[in-house]
Amino acid sequence: MTTTTVRYLGLELTSPVILASSGLSASVDGVRRAEEAGAGAVVLKSLFEEQITADASPDEEEVDYSIHPEAEQYIREMGMHLGPNEHLRLIAVAKENVSIPVIASVNCITPRWWGDYGRQIATTGADALELNIALMPRERSDPRHVESAYCRIIEQVRAHVDLPLAVKIGPYFTNLPSFASRLRDAGADALVLFNRFYQLDINTDAMELAPGYRFSTPAELHTPLRWTSILSGELGCELAASTGIHTGTDVVKMLLAGATAVQVCSAVYQHGYERISEMNTDLIGWMKAHGFARIADFRGRLNQASSDAPEAHERLQYIKALTGIS
Ligand SMILES: Cc1cc2nc3c(=O)[nH]c(=O)nc-3n(C[C@H](O)[C@H](O)[C@H](O)COP(=O)(O)O)c2cc1C
Repeated sequence: MTTTTVRYLGLELTSPVILASSGLSASVDGVRRAEEAGAGAVVLKSLFEEQITADASPDEEEVDYSIHPEAEQYIREMGMHLGPNEHLRLIAVAKENVSIPVIASVNCITPRWWGDYGRQIATTGADALELNIALMPRERSDPRHVESAYCRIIEQVRAHVDLPLAVKIGPYFTNLPSFASRLRDAGADALVLFNRFYQLDINTDAMELAPGYRFSTPAELHTPLRWTSILSGELGCELAASTGIHTGTDVVKMLLAGATAVQVCSAVYQHGYERISEMNTDLIGWMKAHGFARIADFRGRLNQASSDAPEAHERLQYIKALTGIS
């Protein structure tokens, strides 16, 4: 008997495939459709910090990297500052309508609101909380400065909220193993690798900055695959892989690299919710073909901790790849 059950954030998931936070999980209908397609859990659309701060004056101490008046202005114009109540209602109604775990999500840039708001989320019945911390390290200051800002947010939430806590980060850090350990020590139960930041492009005719393509491509899988493989054996913290996972084979790769679960978004936008059931079918097919009854039987088998000389292996593959091209 083949089972795809996994434990993520202390929750039992019937599949490791989670619908990622996005417009697809911004309504009860979307959440229900994800459950029907066989998602193990859903991460609801994030509440953005600016949706709370739009009516409040920013805290000078915290504005140094990322609060932009334009973002708050946009939120006000869109009426999104009404967001927190609607957000809490979405969590509560989603919980009433599906039996899979519902993970709430907030997109934060400061620790300011999240202790209090996190407590309110806990009262809705959410099964866990995902913090999408969206501070891009682009200042010339000491890298530990921005890392500490991430940790302060986690510590603030942890101090007030009992829910299991996942932290979604981007890939742009100097030393991810060290930073990931700091996030774990600050109170993260799981890390989501990685958030996909706004893609910047340039319109050469208008000579203007322009938004890039908003969906990932399968080629983007390699960055989370690398870091999942490096971190999974040594970190002592669950990992959910995100970005570029488009097929059942991609799910298998992430599990072999040591992910506990995967999050999918672009593939579902592009191919519909049935892509989740196809991923599950392909995962089960692969497990049967390789004689695995449970995900625990193969998860992490190809992470770097399982390799005798991971650096030498990677260096060799790199040299082969580059010297083979004339
Ligand atoms: C239209 C759209 C909306 C998104 N909204 C959110 C969001 O509110 N919160 C969040 O944490 N991630 C958000 N994301 C990022 C996804 O959750 C996911 O991390 C990213 O798209 C990479 O996964 P993928 O390659 O499967 O698309 C959004 C992505 C898209 C395409």
